[in-house]
Amino acid sequence: MKRILKCVRCGREYPVDAPRYRCNCGGLLDVALKKENSDDFSSIKDVWRKRRCSNKAIDQSGVWRFRELVYDFNEDEIVTFPEGKTNLYKIPSALLDVDSAFVKHEGENPTGSFKDRGMTIGISFAKKLGYKMVICASTGNTSASLAAYAARAGLKAVVFIPDGKIAFGKLSQALAYGAKTLQIQGDFDDAMKAVQEIAAKHRIYLLNSLNPIRLEGQKTIMIHTLEQLGWNVPDWFVLPGGNLGNTTAFGKALMELKEFGIIEKVPHLAVIQAENANPFYRAYKNGFKEFEPVKAETIATAIRIGNPVNYEKAKRSIEFTKGVVEQVSDAEIMLAKSEIDKLGIGCEPASAASLAGAKKLREKGIIKKGDSVVMLLTGNLLKDPGATTDFNLGKLNIPEAMPNAPEKIGNSPEEIEKRIKEILGER
Ligand code: F0G
Repeated sequence: MKRILKCVRCGREYPVDAPRYRCNCGGLLDVALKKENSDDFSSIKDVWRKRRCSNKAIDQSGVWRFRELVYDFNEDEIVTFPEGKTNLYKIPSALLDVDSAFVKHEGENPTGSFKDRGMTIGISFAKKLGYKMVICASTGNTSASLAAYAARAGLKAVVFIPDGKIAFGKLSQALAYGAKTLQIQGDFDDAMKAVQEIAAKHRIYLLNSLNPIRLEGQKTIMIHTLEQLGWNVPDWFVLPGGNLGNTTAFGKALMELKEFGIIEKVPHLAVIQAENANPFYRAYKNGFKEFEPVKAETIATAIRIGNPVNYEKAKRSIEFTKGVVEQVSDAEIMLAKSEIDKLGIGCEPASAASLAGAKKLREKGIIKKGDSVVMLLTGNLLKDPGATTDFNLGKLNIPEAMPNAPEKIGNSPEEIEKRIKEILGER
């Protein structure tokens, strides 16, 4: 496979290992894949499946198992845990009134979010290019993932996080894995601006989703899900949208799978934003004629982003898949999260935007009863213990909520016995 960096705005090309994050014209870059004569995809699905029986990390990883569409590294060049061995769960139709609904749980990755799929290629690339230090801006998950992979690779990591508004699980990870953590006086969008300026001045590798290399790893969320469905392509793939890296990666994955004859049908992408962090939704509503950043606020701190860097490429994904963009309130997000949590699956708030949005699209009749729907869960429940406990303590002022607060009980056998009998009777 031939790979080249290509500007999505003016088409200018650069070597894939330039390293570069934008074109000279300011446009975003893609890793363009050009098939060579030696690339034969006629039995690729079998090759991918058989690798699951191998004990090599490169085959165990749910990213590198699909390496033909990710990157050509030698096994010893890859920094992996290995990641990407995540489950796809069928969920009851009581949650979403369609014939067939699934959640793909990317919170089951080594650091608890989908970011690991991009970080394994990003950190491997940083190492190959001889970088000693990596950097990112983050609402929390990218920083946790970057910190872990940098530690594994022996690279220095610096992460910029917003002042406050970062979920505790994520902050604790960045600190524990040893990243230098800089809490900037500002929000994610300010942090994103700062790291781009730093990376332009110093020899430090930037690993936000602005980096097109990282997104090549995230494409495997889509590829892996389709494989788990036996290549029966669903009608809808619903995901939360923040910086719009996944939206970009999924559209690109689908374009390539179609071009290389691996799939015939393409699912519609449905990107869900929080109501007060909704610049992509607003742009979609005006037919993508205008894009205006917003000042973002939401309980789903992972997607508290007002100026997504991948806008230009994400728009292409919606157009290619004839997709939609929807918005949901914080209350809708937390109620949907509670439903996912009560299945024993669980997720962090931003992830639940997928179910909340799918419900809304179903109510509007955009998703139909006979459709098959996959919803992406992006992060683990334990990432944001604060939001989960506040909800279950009834602190969020959501009238429809059914909290599950801990009860205080005396330490006498009689009292305990009495309460247990009551609970038995409740069933
Ligand atoms: N869900 C979770 C749990 C996330 O952490 C993020 C992004 C998203 C959804 C949105 O994904 O950016 O591809 O649209 N988190 C980034 C971070 C911004 O810094 O951890 P996107």
